[in-house]
Amino acid sequence: MSPKPNLLLRYMTVADLPQVAEIDQLSFDIPWSEKSYRYEINESNQSFMVVLEWSRERVATRWQRWLNIHPYVEHRIIGYGGMWFIAGEAHVSTIAVHPKGRGFGWGEVLLAGMVRRGLVLGADEVALEVRVSNRRAQKLYEKYEFKRVDVKSRYYRNNNEDAYDMRLDIQDSSTCLRFEERYEALFKRHQLIDDFSPYAPPHARLKP
Ligand SMILES: CC(C)(COP(=O)(O)OP(=O)(O)OC[C@H]1O[C@@H](n2cnc3c(N)ncnc32)[C@H](O)[C@@H]1OP(=O)(O)O)[C@@H](O)C(=O)NCCC(=O)NCCS
Repeated sequence: MSPKPNLLLRYMTVADLPQVAEIDQLSFDIPWSEKSYRYEINESNQSFMVVLEWSRERVATRWQRWLNIHPYVEHRIIGYGGMWFIAGEAHVSTIAVHPKGRGFGWGEVLLAGMVRRGLVLGADEVALEVRVSNRRAQKLYEKYEFKRVDVKSRYYRNNNEDAYDMRLDIQDSSTCLRFEERYEALFKRHQLIDDFSPYAPPHARLKP
């Protein structure tokens, strides 16, 4: 039997882009360009791009060993997200899970990772826009206590749909406490390694 898969939340790299682009195209009417991803990953100091990666060591069977095939590690991106941190506001710019992986709690893991990154950065609030028709995503945000604060009229270019402006106040200490408890339980339940929320992006670490 193959060993249990490992789940890792980590910064997105350029090498992830083919898998990220596939999920983006399956998830959104207006996918991001490759240029935008490269900018967010390598250049922007305000951007925090994240992926949730599944990996499993494939152990070679007896006949594979006989054929000199060695064990190898299989990697797969389940979902991704993006956040900007500007003037005390953590803004979720994107979040998506591969259609085949939805409903298993991975969207929640990505959102919790980004909110926690916002907390570590000292944000006052986490904000995002969501289509008024996107009930599934709104339910996820509501579960994390985001509140609808406004409607942005004709926000989406492809069909002029309105957006809800949803916000989570992370200055409020009881909200923060409830979030931290939820985050701890979630990451423990999925036995996830979080290499994202506690750390600065790799390109920022290289700067003097
Ligand atoms: C929104 C999205 C990221 C959620 O990811 P997911 O992995 O399917 O969601 P999870 O399994 O983590 O579910 C977390 C919560 O979201 C809500 N939710 C998820 N699927 C739902 C559904 N089909 N109907 C209603 N609520 C749903 C629930 O509150 C759920 O919590 P619960 O299981 O305790 O009830 C995913 O559906 C997606 O990629 N959608 C396409 C892209 C998109 O719309 N992104 C949001 C842009 S604003």
